Order: sequence, then C-alpha cells, then structure tokens
Amino acid sequence: MILGIGCDLVEVGRVERQLESEGRAFLEQLFTPDEIAYCEGKRYPARHLSARLAAKEAVFKALALERSEGFLWQQAEIRSDEAGRPSLVLHGRLRELAERRGVRSVHVALSHTDNLATANVVLEA
Ligand SMILES: CC(C)(COP(=O)(O)OP(=O)(O)OC[C@H]1O[C@@H](n2cnc3c(N)ncnc32)[C@H](O)[C@@H]1OP(=O)(O)O)[C@@H](O)C(=O)NCCC(=O)NCCS
Repeated sequence: MILGIGCDLVEVGRVERQLESEGRAFLEQLFTPDEIAYCEGKRYPARHLSARLAAKEAVFKALALERSEGFLWQQAEIRSDEAGRPSLVLHGRLRELAERRGVRSVHVALSHTDNLATANVVLEA
C-alpha cells in the first residue's frame, strides 16, 4: 500500500549561488559527508546536490512534515549504488517517525538538467 508520495523541483542556479555565498556551511547543513563526496566527485556538483535537496524536500512532503518540525536534512540521505541507481535511507528521528507511520520501504527517483533538478519519493507500507 502507498502511504505517501512527494515531489520537488530545485533550481540548480539557486544552489550554485548558495554554494558561492555560504560554501561548506551550506553543504554541511544539508548533506551527509557521503552525499557531499559523491557530488563533489562529479563534473557539475550543483546538479547532483540540487537533486538530493529535491529528494529531501520530497520525503518531507511524502511524510506531510513541516520543515520547522526540527528534522535534520541529513536524516534523509541519498545513497548511490555502483550503477548510479539512487536509494533513500532515513536516519534517526525521521526514520523512527516513518516506522511509526508504517513505512516499510522508500522509493526515490532523481533527474537533473543543467538548470533544474527533480526528485520523486514514494513511501510504501
Ligand atoms: C541511467 C540513465 C537512464 C540516466 O539517464 P540520464 O538522462 O543521464 O539521467 P538524469 O539526468 O535524468 O538523472 C540522473 C540521475 O539518474 C539516477 N540514475 C543513474 N543511474 C540510474 C539507474 N541505473 N537506475 C535508476 N536511476 C539511475 C541518478 O540518481 C542520477 O543522478 P545522480 O547521479 O545525481 O544520483 C542513463 O544514464 C543510462 O544509463 N541509460 C541506460 C540506457 C541507455 O543507455 N539508454 C540510451 C538509449 S535509449
């Protein structure tokens, strides 16, 4: 059974501007060390960061959360397998909340162009 869906669209240029103005503080506030390493290993890191940011927003929407509820952005982490296929792993309080709501698996898809990145998240019981 589907418990929730979420999607989000992020402008890559906005992420590029935040990277320029805030640097590592921006990265470390939003992304896990592994996410940062993955994106920094790519030719255009901002596109991959934007897609991950969209996925974090999308999972908050799928769980019907307000960002102000105090969940950390790093508690929703995108991991990539050797083929580049992404998965979404929940940590800490976010994971506990999802489990309490009966979420047993989380599905994610990412896509990006040079100026837009998108993510879709499906929560399954
Ligand atoms: C996987 C593939 C479809 C991605 O296509 P793309 O248009 O370059 O990718 P997009 O920019 O839309 O999306 C990129 C995201 O796709 C996701 N992705 C990559 N490989 C994936 C896979 N095997 N399965 C699911 N998602 C995948 C990643 O999350 C990636 O973003 P990230 O690197 O930031 O994590 C493509 O690279 C591929 O390998 N296709 C194989 C089939 C093929 O060659 N078709 C061409 C002729 S039809």
